[in-house]
Amino acid sequence: MTGAVRAELVGTGRYTPEKILTNADFEKMVDTSDDWIVERTGIRERHIAESHETIAYMGKIASLQVLEAAGVDVLDLDTIILGTASPDRLLPSNACDLQAVLGAKNAAAFDIGAACSGFLYAANVAQSLVVSGAARNILILGAERLSTIVDYEDRKTCILFGDGVGASLVRPSQNGTRGILSTYMKSDGTLGDLLYRPGGGGNHPPDAQLLEDRGYYINMAGREVFKSAVLCMADACDKALTGAGLAIDDIDLLIPHQANIRILEATRKHVGLPPEKLYVNVDRYGNTSAASIPIALDECVREGRIKPGDHVLLVAFGGGFTWASMVVRW
Ligand code: ACO
Repeated sequence: MTGAVRAELVGTGRYTPEKILTNADFEKMVDTSDDWIVERTGIRERHIAESHETIAYMGKIASLQVLEAAGVDVLDLDTIILGTASPDRLLPSNACDLQAVLGAKNAAAFDIGAACSGFLYAANVAQSLVVSGAARNILILGAERLSTIVDYEDRKTCILFGDGVGASLVRPSQNGTRGILSTYMKSDGTLGDLLYRPGGGGNHPPDAQLLEDRGYYINMAGREVFKSAVLCMADACDKALTGAGLAIDDIDLLIPHQANIRILEATRKHVGLPPEKLYVNVDRYGNTSAASIPIALDECVREGRIKPGDHVLLVAFGGGFTWASMVVRW
């Protein structure tokens, strides 16, 4: 990190929809079983948004929690950065829609497209803006309504994903001690076709054929994603530790993107942490892409799982491929 200013993450919030789809529900929808889903993914249920639970709606609730926890007025927000792969609409950005419902009229707002790494990419950019002096109160969100782009006839993907929003705030560290100690982000665009949506954009605009081919939905080569996710997340953890000048034993809690339990466990073993230092909630939410880390972070903070002075390692991997990590002293 350059410069004298350190950025800190402060305040957290989350919203997850009321409606829950369990594995038993999926047994009635596709050819699958609770045993298969739990054994291969660790997922038992996921929250699914109703039509009124837009990203702007969910984002507003999570954002107000952040502002209250951080003691920041909505008019003091100067930037809003929102990571999503499933926006309410393609134009304008979801961050601008959120800005409107929040009444954050003094902010610049924009989205980040980094799939499941979206929240850590947003945090990374926010950290740079704060350290450079360009911004002072940045609301960051990971926000997904994946149920709108999941094919509920495809058993390989539909059982994985859920909806929700998590948020936090990045500002200059108030005491210079707590804060973001290191950041890392990386991509490999040559692997984009392993996790993608074939149509709906300029290359294949929405039409009847696209819908018939089910090309509007998420398409994924699960095994290839799995292998890359473990290797890249383990490497990103090493990079963040090196950047922070810490050893793995200095880490109090690892919060990885909640993709599935086998990816989480494999990553934990690669980096050499005991099971009790791994945070897992994928059983209750499924994979909520960009929202998974901030939802988990909010749970940990509110439940006292993260205490002042703790070193927390955040790591994500997703479509693009993209991956990112961060060490935070809380
Ligand atoms: N229920 C029952 N059987 C299923 C299901 C299901 N829901 N889905 C697939 N199968 C079947 C397949 O059809 C296949 O059957 P076959 O052998 O007769 O062809 C068999 O199970 C094995 O399929 P695989 O895809 O090889 O199963 P795998 O052990 O790889 O598990 C899974 C699939 C869970 C998707 C796994 O690959 C995985 O977790 N990948 C990571 C993907 C991920 O988490 N992506 C999220 C987005 S990226 C990210 O967030 C990191």
